[in-house]
Amino acid sequence: MKRVAILVSGGGSNMVRLVESMTGDHPARAVMVGSNDPQAGGLAKAADMGIETFAVDHRPFRGDRPAFEAALRERIDAARPDILCLAGFMRILTAGFIQAYEGRMLNIHPSLLPKYKGLHTHERALEAGDAWHGCTVHEVTAELDDGPILGQARVPVEPGDTPDTLAARVLTMEHRLYPAVLRRFADGDRSRLDL
Ligand code: GAR
Repeated sequence: MKRVAILVSGGGSNMVRLVESMTGDHPARAVMVGSNDPQAGGLAKAADMGIETFAVDHRPFRGDRPAFEAALRERIDAARPDILCLAGFMRILTAGFIQAYEGRMLNIHPSLLPKYKGLHTHERALEAGDAWHGCTVHEVTAELDDGPILGQARVPVEPGDTPDTLAARVLTMEHRLYPAVLRRFADGDRSRLDL
């Protein structure tokens, strides 16, 4: 059985879907949910589901990213995860941290990568007049939002869409894509999935 740790910064809706998916004959189980924000809604949701949680508040570290990441790693490694899933984790990670989990760290990003790395993806897709938008699950490598793509899901951009309506449509697909990709990844399948 693979052990999965999940990092969140916000409400954690993707985390909830991941945790809920890991039951029965699934090859993995969620063992830990962590956050850089002690108030993150996702932590309470994880605790409600009986998952161990932790927070390492990034603010007291005042820009000392290596020290923040060392504290984060200590908590993560205590759970001995085989796979680390970023699910709305909004801190940039340094190459040192990424190296520690290389080949076993996944991220979900709300765009059809390689388009729109970084923030404000829905606004940028609308500004560009794109007909299609979506989300991507990829392996995390040292370059931001750039690792090998494990899966993508597309949604149409509808007339009259705002960033919020488009984000909601994409999020629905994130909730399908991430559990599906994680299951395949936990089974050792790194081939690309398109929904
Ligand atoms: C999701 O849309 C996820 O793709 C995005 O944050 C949201 C988290 O929602 N992640 C990023 O933008 C990463 N750069 P959630 O907390 O409800 O899962």
